[in-house]
Amino acid sequence: MTATALSDIAASEDQFQLATYKKMQIAAERGEGVWIYTSDGDRYLDLYGGHAVAGTGHCHPHVVKAVREQAEQLLFYSNLVYSSARARAAEKLVSVAPAPLTKVFFCNSGTEANENAMRLARMATGREQIITFTGGFHGRTADAISATFLGKYRELGKPNVPGHLQAEFGNIGSVRAIADETVAAIMLEPIQSMAGVRIAEASFYRELRQLCDERGIMLIYDEVQTGVGRTGEWFFAGSDTGDGVVPDIVTLAKALGSGVPVGACLVTDEITSHIKENDLGTTFGGGMLAMAAVTATLEAIENDGLLENVKTVEAYLRERLRDVERVVAVHGRGFLLGIEFGQKAALVHQALLERKIITGTSSNPNVLRLLPPLCLQTAEVDLFVSALQEG
Ligand SMILES: Cc1ncc(COP(=O)(O)O)c(C=O)c1O
Repeated sequence: MTATALSDIAASEDQFQLATYKKMQIAAERGEGVWIYTSDGDRYLDLYGGHAVAGTGHCHPHVVKAVREQAEQLLFYSNLVYSSARARAAEKLVSVAPAPLTKVFFCNSGTEANENAMRLARMATGREQIITFTGGFHGRTADAISATFLGKYRELGKPNVPGHLQAEFGNIGSVRAIADETVAAIMLEPIQSMAGVRIAEASFYRELRQLCDERGIMLIYDEVQTGVGRTGEWFFAGSDTGDGVVPDIVTLAKALGSGVPVGACLVTDEITSHIKENDLGTTFGGGMLAMAAVTATLEAIENDGLLENVKTVEAYLRERLRDVERVVAVHGRGFLLGIEFGQKAALVHQALLERKIITGTSSNPNVLRLLPPLCLQTAEVDLFVSALQEG
């Protein structure tokens, strides 16, 4: 296929690929920083990052160089051998994680990280039940979709894996009522993204930690969206927003490889002590190409001061949004933001797209989601705010 016109590309994809999402009428061909260049020669400001993946921005030169060099050396070998690329990635990731998260298990996606996190908790406790929350999303494989109580997803995963219990996000009483001696883990998105960017009171995270400690339950943070710098901290785990709470397991994916697929579970020594050889496995997890991407991603965030940038530009964006009358509230932290309008966010999303700005919607009809690259600058915020003011 040599076609470059959007209509030809779309026709071909629609003919040969199963339907997934409702697509924007864009064929993305090239990316640089916060910009996406299309087959028709247009340029779009990307405030969505391809489902929150482009944390370091599109094609960050340091990541591209590392991936290119690794590709020329060794694309892949499994965990049956040692690898300097894997050793570097594991050491770097653990070095930015809060204590006592001291070891990592690499896999390939967010849903796989969550499947393994739940399994690790069951192995560590000898219990089976998992508590998750209304509005949470954890992925589409069997156990993860069964842990997902947001909208229609759980239904799509029928028959569900047994042993999943539901509590109300932000309501510690609802957790206490069901957290008995059969419960292996409590798992949550510390900021619920797809639900419309919902955050709980800091006391909720502290009380969850206390409850888990009292009752021998593992606490799992699904940081597939909030991790790797998105909130202006390396992780929600250990941050002030979450009252400094560190869970027993943190799951990661999305921005971790800047677009090279990779997932991870960060775990404590306590979890580690329960895991023997052959309890865990994956063919592709820990492959060299992905590992090179992980190390370079974390280095790029550090070298470019992206955590500080997120905080500075978030503050500027919040300030500028005060001038936009239609904005009712701004939810979230850092560059995981939900802008609430007094009208349908889908209309705002479409109007912005016509002005060549990509944003996201959520399951809250009035909330527009922003998940931009961490390198977004104030000048680009101005473009966004002007577009909102224009209508
Ligand atoms: C919070 C959260 N957890 C898990 C997942 C699943 O990740 P993946 O699509 O990489 O399997 C997602 C994906 O959107 C997510 O947002």
